[in-house]
Amino acid sequence: MRSDTVTRPTAGMLEAMMTAEVGDDVFGDDPTVNRLQEVVADLLSKEAALFVPSGTMGNQLALRAQTRHGDQIVLEDGAHIYRYEAGAPAALSGVLVTCVQAPGGLLEWPLVAAALNPDNVHCATPSLICLENTHNRAGGRILPQSALQEISVQAHARGLRVHLDGARLWHAHVATGMALAELAAPADSVSVCFSKALGAPVGSVLASDKATITRAHRFRKMWGGGMRQAGILAAACLYALDHHLVRLAVDHENARALAAGLDHPGLRVNHPVDTNIVIIDVDGPGRDEALLAHLESCGVLGVGFGPGRVRLVPHLEHSAEDVGRAVEVLNSFSGAHS
Ligand SMILES: Cc1ncc(COP(=O)(O)O)c(C=O)c1O
Repeated sequence: MRSDTVTRPTAGMLEAMMTAEVGDDVFGDDPTVNRLQEVVADLLSKEAALFVPSGTMGNQLALRAQTRHGDQIVLEDGAHIYRYEAGAPAALSGVLVTCVQAPGGLLEWPLVAAALNPDNVHCATPSLICLENTHNRAGGRILPQSALQEISVQAHARGLRVHLDGARLWHAHVATGMALAELAAPADSVSVCFSKALGAPVGSVLASDKATITRAHRFRKMWGGGMRQAGILAAACLYALDHHLVRLAVDHENARALAAGLDHPGLRVNHPVDTNIVIIDVDGPGRDEALLAHLESCGVLGVGFGPGRVRLVPHLEHSAEDVGRAVEVLNSFSGAHS
């Protein structure tokens, strides 16, 4: 339960990969990649889309294609783009990142507005606001659509663009019943991932208007992300959409059961469980490490998520029984705790 990225391709997915029609995607000749790009552009109601190896590349291409060196970008303090992409906004796009701490990770326009630099020669020029839905570090939280809409309207009124890291936009879609296109609408660009929760081994897509995707395409080549017979991978993504999207509701149910079953004086779920992620606060210095060791010794893998925090993510390979077992192991955690 370290992550929803650890799933292995299912037999049906491997079959789809083995029988995929392929070509050289650097020449634009891979029919399966082209189909995936069309399908995702259509689902998100954007003009164009680009297949990329990872969510990180999708996000960073969005930054590179929509900013200039020295620009200011604004994002939430826990954003994956800021925390977990190896300093790429600075290294690859040369942008100044301003982080905003939002309660529960749920960014709202007044917080963004307060962080935007004034139009002043001393300051970096704001150009892009980045959102993350669902919000991983906040515990898979779904951002209220009204807040996203307001951010989008206000940003556009000031000539700013909006990028949505939708690595887990699928979860917001399944949990709320809102169409993916509606969830994507406030953003000028959206990245989605197939390698988390949907069970594909590799693959993300960046969707946006044609001009942005044309620019991103050039940078994808520059960064070594042009792949040849990538249809083998795109086939896994198409299979995941057809077979694994709807069942995310099971992961959400499992995550809720995990949180509800937790009954331990030193452990606490620190957020509403909107989707598939459960973050547990662990009382006492160093007790997070002890909990991870205890879990591992009982065959349950979690991941440290900052001091005093452990993350568990039920996924495609877990049954309700597996979750019940994880709850037992959590509740049997012993030793000194406050
Ligand atoms: C919210 C979010 N965005 C982006 C990424 C990056 O995806 P990748 O690991 O494919 O680069 C992740 C990875 O877990 C993520 O959780």
